[in-house]
Amino acid sequence: MTTDFAATKAMFHLPDGVTYLDGNSLGPLPRTAADRVAKTVTEEWGQMLIGGWNKAGWMDQPSRVGDRIARLIGAEPGHVVMGDTLSIKVYQALASALEMNAPRKVVLSDNGNFPSDLYIAQGLCRTLGPDYVLKVVEPEAVMSAIDESVAVTLITEVDYRTGRKHDMAAITARAHEKGALTVWDLAHSAGAFQVELAKAGADFAVGCTYKYLNSGPGGPAFIYVAPRHAERARPALSGWLGHESPFAFDLDYRAGRGIERMRVGTPPVLQLAALDAALDVWEGVDMGDLRAASLRLTDRFIAGVEAACPMLTLVTPRDHALRGSQVSFRHAEGYAIMQALIANGVVGDFRAPDILRFGFTPLFIDEADVDRAVAVLARVMAESLWDRPDYKRRAKVT
Ligand SMILES: Cc1ncc(COP(=O)(O)O)c(C=O)c1O
Repeated sequence: MTTDFAATKAMFHLPDGVTYLDGNSLGPLPRTAADRVAKTVTEEWGQMLIGGWNKAGWMDQPSRVGDRIARLIGAEPGHVVMGDTLSIKVYQALASALEMNAPRKVVLSDNGNFPSDLYIAQGLCRTLGPDYVLKVVEPEAVMSAIDESVAVTLITEVDYRTGRKHDMAAITARAHEKGALTVWDLAHSAGAFQVELAKAGADFAVGCTYKYLNSGPGGPAFIYVAPRHAERARPALSGWLGHESPFAFDLDYRAGRGIERMRVGTPPVLQLAALDAALDVWEGVDMGDLRAASLRLTDRFIAGVEAACPMLTLVTPRDHALRGSQVSFRHAEGYAIMQALIANGVVGDFRAPDILRFGFTPLFIDEADVDRAVAVLARVMAESLWDRPDYKRRAKVT
């Protein structure tokens, strides 16, 4: 192993007394991100004012930072760009893919997909016309549901609730065999393990950066378009910064070169500065080491919890090939149990109706953290610490 995970852990600000198993939802603060944002605010915005767009390179940030993400997702350099939120990027990718695969009109997804992806697909189908449909099947039925009617598969590689991982290469191959295009949502993949978009032959991919990539709340999303489609894909959200020549201020839209056309409007400069600094942490990380550590940590957590808490039901696959980098257990009182855990310094989260979710992020979580989390969970269950009215009152964000 070449990666020094003690060194990466030291690069994060983690509050005292907290074991943070929620980096799959919102990554913690990389120490350098706070300094970088402060510098961008005072030295760039403060001193350069509008000159920052040229002098500080703000305008090129989305593709420069996109290239840094490309390595982590196995994309060809020059084919990833940052901006907007993931929901917007899902819309963009899906709209372009549907147009490219006309006259087919079926979008195929599964019921383990994140609701925003399904809602976006429903809205887009409604806009495109009554013949467009979103077909939603069980995750296990995706392969067999890909037939000659499917225009685009819209699949999130790792299920946000269970942590079950799809086989990207197999689904992409099957889609191509049947003449369908693929849109992959990498929200729970990018930074969780090495993704191989180019090797799998993926057509489009999108993802967020505030989870495993630690860009902070509201951090920008990314979009990938395979090089073979880059000059063909037409953006439905044809904003001025995706134009071939934004500062010509033409009255008619002409798509920009390659992935640049997937830009929409003004980039979030401060968030991109935070993300750029957060990506420095990855410089010394071998993705093989990361995956090995993630599986070791998730195995250890599963074994510990199953031994100590038989009343919790594992919903994450035991098979490594089918597992992302999170572990989930089911319990009818899941929400209250999670509140008790948080009150005792172990932070995970809850997903309705009954899922306790724990993310394992080797950059800052080690074996001692896993053992502590298991011990606290065992105590919460053995002593029914969760059984309090205030732990059962649901907050807005769970
Ligand atoms: C798989 C998946 N897709 C889409 C989204 C929506 O992302 P955003 O709120 O950044 O648009 C999320 C959010 O967690 C997600 O997990």
